[in-house]
Amino acid sequence: MNIIIFGAPGSGKGTQSDLIVTKYNLTHLSTGDLLRKEIADNTELGKTIYQYISQGQLVPDKMIIDILAKKLDELKTVETDGTILDGFPRTLQQAEALEKLLAQNGTQTDILIDLHVDEQELITRLLKRGETSGRSDDNIETIKKRLDVYHSQTCPVSDYYKKLGKFVEILGMGTIDDIFGRISKAIDAKL
Ligand code: AP5
Ligand code: MG
Repeated sequence: MNIIIFGAPGSGKGTQSDLIVTKYNLTHLSTGDLLRKEIADNTELGKTIYQYISQGQLVPDKMIIDILAKKLDELKTVETDGTILDGFPRTLQQAEALEKLLAQNGTQTDILIDLHVDEQELITRLLKRGETSGRSDDNIETIKKRLDVYHSQTCPVSDYYKKLGKFVEILGMGTIDDIFGRISKAIDAKL
C-alpha cells in the first residue's frame, strides 16, 4: 500500500505518519527529513538545499525527484507492507514523476490523505515547535512564505489525485488520537 500524507506546513503529516507506520507496517519516507539530513551531513548538495529550505522555498523538482527515485530504489529491499510519503509530491510535476516511478515497480498510490487545519492553528503549532526544533524555517517570516508556496504550488496536487479518485480530506484539528482515528477509518476503507 502506498499512502501520501498531504497538507500544509504544520498540519501534522510527520506526527500522523509515525502512528500510521506502526499500525500498518509501512516505511516512512519524508522528503523534508531526507533534505535536512543532507544539510546536517554538510554535503555540497546540503549547502544548496539549505538556501531553499531556510527561505521557505521548494527545492527544484529535478533535484527532489532524483533524491526520491534513489530512496524508492533503496526501499525495494525493505520488507514492509508499503510506503507512506510525507512531503512529496508537492508540485504537479512531482506527482506525475511519482506515479511514473511507482508504475515502473508495478504499483501506484492508493490514497492521498489531505489533513485540513485552520491557518491560525498551523502558525501557532509551528511557532511553538520553533521554540525547540532548531529548524531554520520555523520562524514567522518563513512560515508565511511556506504557507504561500503551499497554496500556489502544492495545492494543485490535490486536484490531480481527485481526478484519480484517490483524494480523501480529513479534519486535522483536535487531538492527535482523534485525527489518527479518522485517518485509520479512511485507510481501512481502502484495504
Ligand atoms: P517538510 O519537512 O515537509 O515540512 P512542512 O511540509 O513544512 O511540514 P512540517 O514538517 O513543518 O509539518 P508537518 O505537517 O509534518 O506537521 P508535524 O507533524 O511536524 O518540508 C520542509 C522544507 O523542505 C520545505 O519547505 C521545502 O523547502 C523542502 N521540501 C520538502 N519536501 C519537498 C518537496 N517534495 N519538493 C521540494 N521541496 C521540498 O506537526 C507540527 C507541530 O504541531 C509539531 O510540533 C507537532 O507536535 C504539533 N502537532 C501535531 N499534531 C497536533 C495536534 N493534533 N494538535 C496540536 N499540535 C499538534
Ligand atoms: Mg513534517
